[in-house]
Amino acid sequence: MSNDSTLKTFLVAFLLCVVCSVLVCAAALVRIDREAYNKQLEIRKTVLIAGGFEQAIEDGGDVNELFTSNVEAKIVDLDKGEYTDAVDVEKYDQKKAVEDPAMSVKIPAAADIAGIGTRAKYAKIYVTKDGSLILPIRGAGMWGPMYGYISIANDYNTVKGFIFYQHAETPGLGGEVDNPKWRGQWPGKKIYNDSGELAIKVVKNGKYKADAADAVNTIDGLAGATVTSGKVKQIVRYWFGKNGYGKFLANLKAKKG
Ligand SMILES: Cc1cc2nc3c(=O)[nH]c(=O)nc-3n(C[C@H](O)[C@H](O)[C@H](O)COP(=O)(O)O)c2cc1C
Repeated sequence: MSNDSTLKTFLVAFLLCVVCSVLVCAAALVRIDREAYNKQLEIRKTVLIAGGFEQAIEDGGDVNELFTSNVEAKIVDLDKGEYTDAVDVEKYDQKKAVEDPAMSVKIPAAADIAGIGTRAKYAKIYVTKDGSLILPIRGAGMWGPMYGYISIANDYNTVKGFIFYQHAETPGLGGEVDNPKWRGQWPGKKIYNDSGELAIKVVKNGKYKADAADAVNTIDGLAGATVTSGKVKQIVRYWFGKNGYGKFLANLKAKKG
């Protein structure tokens, strides 16, 4: 075929288009893969920080290595208060489940102290080697939804770590929920009192008294962000109450004796 033929010109142009399309598609797939990987890495890092492995990460520990050797994901049926294998733990997306009427429950207004409207039937939690739990929590902040994790020790009561990884609170005000100094108040606090009642609370900034009888259940609120502090209190109390992890934790405590 002569180099000047129209057919050859079209053929070369066509082949060029095919090659370019393949390259663009391949690049897009690599990007999607990369984004999914980064997202997974971010979730793993957040779970580890909540679970008390923040120092290990700061010391240069590899997030994937720390995660796979310390943490196991499990699914909890919140209404039954038990582990379940009703869904595939690797594929289960709790945020998507909230949008699916078959996978979620509507919360009656009177019980909806976290302002979430609907919650997934199943929670994807993480269990560490010593039996500590890393539990997802979410609820309405002042400006939008807040997503976080709380970890509790294997007494199912003592807080080990606390983090909100996604929220829309104002930087410097409610956004200080991210401040490591404020987060640092949470480890060691007890969710329930000696009678087993839900007791954890966040008080207005400056009202915390270290010598008060309930200091072990009390967090000093954020300065200039009483609204966000109150929302955080409601979120935590919802998730550790009878409509959240309450039944599951009571069952674990009873099994432990
Ligand atoms: C632009 C703007 C953003 C604000 N963002 C927050 C916020 O994210 N969280 C919060 O609790 N209060 C926020 N506030 C302040 C609340 O309106 C309210 O004054 C505050 O929560 C009261 O806290 P205090 O009693 O500690 O002063 C904001 C106020 C303004 C004007």
